[in-house]
Amino acid sequence: MTDAPPADPIARFVGLFEEARSLPRTVLPEPTAFALGTVDERGNPSVRIVLLKHVDDEGFVFYTNFESRKGRELLGAKRAALCFHWQPLEVQVRAEGPARPVTAGEADAYFASRARGSQIGAWASLQSQPMTSPDALDRRVAEMEERFAGREVPRPPHWSGFRVVPERIEFWKNMPSRLHVRHLYRRERSGWSVQQLYP
Ligand SMILES: Cc1cc2nc3c(=O)[nH]c(=O)nc-3n(C[C@H](O)[C@H](O)[C@H](O)COP(=O)(O)O)c2cc1C
Repeated sequence: MTDAPPADPIARFVGLFEEARSLPRTVLPEPTAFALGTVDERGNPSVRIVLLKHVDDEGFVFYTNFESRKGRELLGAKRAALCFHWQPLEVQVRAEGPARPVTAGEADAYFASRARGSQIGAWASLQSQPMTSPDALDRRVAEMEERFAGREVPRPPHWSGFRVVPERIEFWKNMPSRLHVRHLYRRERSGWSVQQLYP
């Protein structure tokens, strides 16, 4: 017998996330890292790691270049899947749902909080595009440093965040004898439903 699952999956996620973040970096180097799955117009999936910058009842927020592969795929299909694996906690969390851009105000506030080097990098990197020469990025960084010398770096128009609004959230917890516990939450009109799945 296992305990009844908590009713609210976001609160459950936040509790685990805090636990993961409280671990020493030597134990869990990147607790905010998750795999982000997207799909192109032909249904071809792709996945990469990004960093969670905010989570609340509305969803999971990360930042990126909107002209990158993932940016274009999210603006097209408007749906995403994500997966966290916090190995020291023996926990996996998956979520799926629509992805929509954050507000300009949210993106501006987060961009302003970043180190200047990262801000310059956001202007310099043509993320996911082919590089014409190995030093092309260094040259673009130097150009942007010159362009913004002596003033604040504004947020590039192509750089912002997406919020993945979960319709499904699944928690997987390792158990002895491989009798792992999976709880699948689904967003219903009246709130979240939850059911246990075979491992
Ligand atoms: C630990 C880690 C964290 C990363 N965080 C981000 C991130 O927050 N945003 C981002 O755009 N790319 C991030 N990346 C790079 C992406 O994995 C990916 O290489 C890049 O965004 C281009 O992906 P795309 O061509 O599918 O758009 C991160 C990579 C790693 C390994």
